Amino acid sequence: MRDIGIGLAGFGTVGAGVFLNLEKNRALLRERMGRDLVVRKIAVKDPAKNRAVSVPPALLAKNWRDLLDDPSVEVVVELMGGMEEPRELIMEAIRRGKIVVTGNKALLAEHGAEIFRLATEKRVPVFYEAAVAGGIPIIKAVREAFVANHFRRMRGIINGTSNYILTRMAESGLDFASALSEAQAAGFAEADPALDVNGWDAGHKAIILASLAYGFWVPSKDLLVEGIEGITPGDIRFAAQLGYTIKLLGFIDACPDGSVEVSVQPSLVPNENILASVRGVFNAIAVRGDVVGDALFYGRGAGQDPTASSVISDLADAAIALDSPRESFGFIPHGLYGKLRPAGEVTSAFYLRLGVDDQPGVLARIAGVLGESNIGISSVIQPETPEGELAVLVLMIHDAPRGRVISALQKIRALDCVHGEPALYRVEAAS
Ligand code: HSE
Repeated sequence: MRDIGIGLAGFGTVGAGVFLNLEKNRALLRERMGRDLVVRKIAVKDPAKNRAVSVPPALLAKNWRDLLDDPSVEVVVELMGGMEEPRELIMEAIRRGKIVVTGNKALLAEHGAEIFRLATEKRVPVFYEAAVAGGIPIIKAVREAFVANHFRRMRGIINGTSNYILTRMAESGLDFASALSEAQAAGFAEADPALDVNGWDAGHKAIILASLAYGFWVPSKDLLVEGIEGITPGDIRFAAQLGYTIKLLGFIDACPDGSVEVSVQPSLVPNENILASVRGVFNAIAVRGDVVGDALFYGRGAGQDPTASSVISDLADAAIALDSPRESFGFIPHGLYGKLRPAGEVTSAFYLRLGVDDQPGVLARIAGVLGESNIGISSVIQPETPEGELAVLVLMIHDAPRGRVISALQKIRALDCVHGEPALYRVEAAS
């Protein structure tokens, strides 16, 4: 039986999970693969540090370059996080013919085109199942299982931390800050939780899914990405009153003109839409293909073991690729699509929350601006407000191009009866 030599760069939550689970299920993996996946080296910042998971000291190296120089390391697993060092490691590993496994979604979203150009030139695979939706095998599904399909669209709850926060806010009435602290304590959030709550962790994952579905890398600077920081317990209550649950959704759509929409937006999801019932740290991705129809993927999108499960599946693919090289090196570009649809041109329904003076004529002035812009209102809520306080006005808006709604909102904000930051969230269809 042939061993496959693995080098781990990074031994945080996921790296330790990979190590532990390779040990735990060694016999099973050996039976299934006919090979042993052997960790030969682990590069960490501080080899002397006390670790929750103990590893033989001889495996520890201080410098990730040691993995490149070790001929017994055939597969480099990059789980360091960050951007420049992982990029250097991955590019150099490819140049040296070592297969790469990474969970670094930010790196792939920013530098995927460059990495896969080199991977294809050098004929070295780069696998990244753990980069999107933790333990859900969505990369393999989109790349391989659905190869027969034009993707009509995907809708994804692809950040577990934000879904956990929104669930706790909805079910226990917590405010945003307390729910975030809980998510951090549970270990779901990224080292910098800003990326979880400002939408960019989901944004990076949406770019990766879109690249697989549509064959090109969307520049991150062109993406509409909004986070959940501004969602109030009041928004969640209003949404519930109207029959919706607020979720942070990734939108990946093929538009009729061949352009592609990619965005991440807080969205009101009708309760009858299956995505509304995805709770806690769970992720879900609804995929619509022209051949397969609708398919739904659901599972744990974060956490040590689910993410390790995906890394180990990449290691199994790497083992096969080592023995039987193939023509796919992880991402296949194509020219059937290739243009991002500007966010302002995307049409949807919206939820608009405003702080306003509680005076006669205020609703009429706001409705007037929307009417002049040819934007229809489908319902209005204004809860009673104590004398002298600002009133909250919630307007549900019929389908309209986002750019037109944003222009109208600028005029509404300029009205002297409108105060504070408005909230504008997309409203998703029932299916
Ligand atoms: N922090 C991420 C999440 C997990 O909350 O989904 C890794 O992408």
